[in-house]
Amino acid sequence: MSFDTVRTVDALRASIAPWHEAGQAVGLVPTMGALHDGHLALVGASRISCVRTVVTIFVNPAQFGPSEDLVRYPRREAEDAEILRSLGVDLLYAPPVSEVYRPGFATRITVGSLADRLEGAHRPDHFTGVATVVAKLLLQARPQRAFFGEKDFQQLQVVRRMAADLDIPVDVVGVETVREPDGLALSSRNEFLSPAERAVAPALNRTLCAVANAVSDGVDCQAEAARGAEALIASGFDKIDYLAVVDAQSFEPIGKIARRPARALAAGFLGKTRLIDNVAIPPAA
Ligand code: PAJ
Repeated sequence: MSFDTVRTVDALRASIAPWHEAGQAVGLVPTMGALHDGHLALVGASRISCVRTVVTIFVNPAQFGPSEDLVRYPRREAEDAEILRSLGVDLLYAPPVSEVYRPGFATRITVGSLADRLEGAHRPDHFTGVATVVAKLLLQARPQRAFFGEKDFQQLQVVRRMAADLDIPVDVVGVETVREPDGLALSSRNEFLSPAERAVAPALNRTLCAVANAVSDGVDCQAEAARGAEALIASGFDKIDYLAVVDAQSFEPIGKIARRPARALAAGFLGKTRLIDNVAIPPAA
C-alpha cells in the first residue's frame, strides 16, 4: 500500500484523478494536524466507508483571530504522517499557506445566521475562514464523503449548510466526539492545560450532561443554561464565553425541549486555553 504527501493543488488532483476514474469512493478528512484519537476516529470512519482516504493538514491562518493561538498551535507533521501511513491512509495533503492563499486571493465564503451565533459571536470571521478553506478542499479533492467531528458541532453544521447552499456534491458525515475516560473531549489544545487546569477541565462535559438531563426533564432551557455557566465558574473555569441550549440545526435558542433535536454547547477558558464541548439533547417523546 502506498502513502504519499503532496503539497500543491495540482499534485493533489493528479493523485486523486485515477481513483475518481476508477469509480473509487474518496473520503476527505480535513484537519489542522497534531493528530489525536479524535482525528483518527474520522480517519477510521472514512476507511470503513470509502475505498480511498485523503487527510489534509493545514493550520489555516484565516480562521484564527488576531489575539488567538495561531503561533503556538502545535505542529508535528512528520509524526502525523507516520500515524496516517500506519493506518492505511492513501494520501496526505499538507500545503504551505502560499499554496492555499495565492497572491491576489480575495474570495471568502460567509455562512448566514447559523455562523453568527455562539462560536461565531465570540470569534468573528472564524467560520468564514473555516467555510472558505473547507470549500476549497472539497472542490480540490472532490470527495464523495467528508468527515467532521461532532466535537465542533457548530462547525459541522456550518460546513453542511455551506456544501448544501453551494451545491457541492459531497456527503458531510458527522463523527461522534472521542473523549478521555473522565469525559474531557480530546483536543489539540488540551496539551496547553496545566495539571491544575486539566483537573478542572472535565467539568465542561459534566455540566453539559447535567444541563441536557435537566432540560430533557422539562426544565426551562435558558434558566438551566445560566445555572450551568455559574456551575462552571464554581468548578474553577476562569471565564465562560457561552453555555447555550439551541435547536441543533438552526442554532436558534429554545425555551423548552420540543419535538426537534437540540444541543447544549459551551465554550470557556482555563487560563489562556479555550475549551469547547457539546452534547446532544434528544427530542421530547
Ligand atoms: P481540527 O481542530 O484539527 O479538527 C479536525 C477535525 O477533527 C474536525 O472535524 C474536528 O471536529 C475533529 N475532532 C477534533 N477533536 C475531536 C474529538 N475529540 N472527537 C471527534 N472529532 C474530533 O476543525 C478543524 O481542525 C478545522 O477547523 C478544519 C475543519 C480542518 C478547517 O480548517
